[in-house]
Amino acid sequence: MSNPSLSEIKGAVHKDLRHDSAHKHVAGTAVYIDDVAEPKNMLHMYVAMSEKAHAEITEMDLSAVRAAQGVAVVLTADDIPGHNDVSPFAGDDPLFSTGLVEYIGQPIFAVAANSLEEAIAAAKLAKVSYDEKPHYLNIDEAEAVDLKIEDSQLMAQGEAEKALSASKNRLQGSFYIGGQDHFYLEGQIALATPQEDGDVHVLSSTQHPSEVQHLVAHVLGRPTNAVTIEVRRMGGGFGGKETHPAMFAAMSSLAAVKTQRPVKLRLDRDDDMVMTGKRHDFKYSYDVGYDDDGQITGIEIEMASRCGRSTDLSPAINDRAMFHADNCYFLSDVAIKSHRYKTHTVSNTAFRGFGGPQGMIGIERVIEDVAREIGKDPLDVRMLNLYGEGERDTTPYGMKVEDNVAAEIMETLAETSEYRKRRDEIRAFNANSKYLKKGISITPVKFGISFTTTHLNQAGALVHIYADGSVHLNHGGTEMGQGLFTKVAQVVAEEFQIDVTRVKITATTTAKVPNTSATAASSGSDLNGMAALDAARKIKARLIDFAAEKYSCPKDRITFRNNKVYIENKEMAFNELTQEAYLGRVSMSSTGFYKTPKIKYDRASHKGRPFYYFCYGAAVSEVMIDTLTGENKVLRTDILHEAGRSLNPVIDIGQIEGGFIQGMGWLTTEELVFDDAGRLRTHAPSTYKVPACSDRPDELNIELWNKGRNVEATIHRSKAVGEPPFMLANAVFMALVDAVASVGDYKVPVKMDAPATPEEVLMAVADVKKRA
Ligand code: MTE
Ligand code: MOS
Repeated sequence: MSNPSLSEIKGAVHKDLRHDSAHKHVAGTAVYIDDVAEPKNMLHMYVAMSEKAHAEITEMDLSAVRAAQGVAVVLTADDIPGHNDVSPFAGDDPLFSTGLVEYIGQPIFAVAANSLEEAIAAAKLAKVSYDEKPHYLNIDEAEAVDLKIEDSQLMAQGEAEKALSASKNRLQGSFYIGGQDHFYLEGQIALATPQEDGDVHVLSSTQHPSEVQHLVAHVLGRPTNAVTIEVRRMGGGFGGKETHPAMFAAMSSLAAVKTQRPVKLRLDRDDDMVMTGKRHDFKYSYDVGYDDDGQITGIEIEMASRCGRSTDLSPAINDRAMFHADNCYFLSDVAIKSHRYKTHTVSNTAFRGFGGPQGMIGIERVIEDVAREIGKDPLDVRMLNLYGEGERDTTPYGMKVEDNVAAEIMETLAETSEYRKRRDEIRAFNANSKYLKKGISITPVKFGISFTTTHLNQAGALVHIYADGSVHLNHGGTEMGQGLFTKVAQVVAEEFQIDVTRVKITATTTAKVPNTSATAASSGSDLNGMAALDAARKIKARLIDFAAEKYSCPKDRITFRNNKVYIENKEMAFNELTQEAYLGRVSMSSTGFYKTPKIKYDRASHKGRPFYYFCYGAAVSEVMIDTLTGENKVLRTDILHEAGRSLNPVIDIGQIEGGFIQGMGWLTTEELVFDDAGRLRTHAPSTYKVPACSDRPDELNIELWNKGRNVEATIHRSKAVGEPPFMLANAVFMALVDAVASVGDYKVPVKMDAPATPEEVLMAVADVKKRA
């Protein structure tokens, strides 16, 4: 793929442009918050955490902490002038405990000192006594006492129970899917600087500047306009910086306002992993009816998740798991039940896919089980059950699937990857290999795009053109490595037909674009690209009006091309026109706005059109396991994924690769272990294994679906790409199931939970052997 240098590009969409900061990421010159030159007099903050999973604090004596060397201020719940809450909506996330603690790691007080070492040393001097209460740490324990964050939900279509009783064949199964830590390279951080009149400016590593702004103001007891949040880039967010950054921004702001000194709060990796929420783990069970071909005739699905101590975003996350319980398959008679358990562990939160991955992997497991029962290739069972035309196009939530390309993508990928031939070869290999066994699987993805909370689907932008023709771009989206800023700059450059290097990408700030939504749900470029386009078009229209009048030329004879403007026969540089427009007193600054059309959703009935469109893709993975040790490796993966008319193919391929590998980590090596006291034992890379370069499949072929074109009028007909590829990793897990199944000659059901760590694979092998 060619990658021309930035300055050669005019009219920049659908081109392979490098990420605007790629060279700076590599050279170490991209500035993250901890790289910002530290202001004089700055304080460092440390957060003290609860050491009990569920208890009442009977005494907290902080006198020695306050008296310790270098300490400027010690904060507890009593120091909050406003509201002691940093929750996204439910009001159940106190900034500091008021006595009750509900997880190990819950903030109880914070210390700001001249150095971080002094802050940590001081915090250790606290005398805290607890009166312990019974704790319920996981899904099973919470289920036993019916401890929930909200009522269980039901999404249904047809008559599942009746259809199940009438089904020719029937099968039940259950399994467990583990959670996942975000492991962003840059941890949670905030740097708060006091302003005049008790106002505060905060550099925050957040995907959601507006919410952080709102919550900081709330804690300070000030109006929103007293707080400004700025974020140039994050070193990864992955959903972990949607709700949690507010906590750190609020603590540092409170200290900054109290001491009138700048305050930095940067979590150590271990504290970050203990203190902040993760992907929800799920328990999944099903009862499926099917005919002799493997066509699903009725199904009941039950999901339960560990939400942790508070509501956070768990309702929407668990809803999204229900929305993706069908994946690409038509379920005529289906009931999906979802239970959301409260536990005395850290509050779980958004993570790439937002519950979708947990919902989706279930139905893939069902298909594998059905295929094994009837002795068919799972690919054939998948193809048979895909959404189709007419009667077969309605999802369990009543939305019609109008853009389905799953069958085409699956067929094409099966061809190009030689899936069927390799499956035969693998079976032959396994017959002759005593200990090493291979497996292969091909799985599809269909992922719904839009926030399912309809009002969040809005965005704003602000574009200025200076007299010299240089452009300043700002919008409500945030950059976390995904390339959003590059894509939106491409959209603006395209509109004016100028080099993308003329468009200055600037930090997101609540002072320029207000009331924004989180950069999440993969909709960053869809929403902010459109808002920026709206702003650019308004300015362009004013330039055209001006030129038409000045040169007495019809408006439709004025065109922008190659950094130039053509006014009938006259040609002038873009910056000549902007200079003239300035002298002619034309406003060259504009806001832009966008709201996604067509979507609506009724949460009470779980019916509507929650998504503007769907993204599709498929992956085929080949794996090898060692049946003596359980060790496993992905040998090869082929991916075919659609991004509509991609705004930037190289960036999208990067997202697909990163998403897939992160999904692979979730399903294979990343294991969260809490001990019986509720302490997270896997809180650093020494005990928590994220994928390394060596875990990347030896052969990894990624192609964009070249027929991709969005049927909806999205920004330049592109499709979102941030989250959907995560679920391509389902192919890895199903290939591991296939390899384990070989031990029982593909006849015994495989009981294997995720993540498929070596221990888990070994136990699954032993279990299959026992029953073979
Ligand atoms: N890619 C990188 N490099 N870093 C990230 O933190 N987050 C993912 C995805 N890709 C992430 C990423 C998540 S969870 C989402 S929702 C989207 O990016 C958000 O950005 P977008 O809407 O602009 O795609
Ligand atoms: Mo992504 S989980 O929607 O931040």
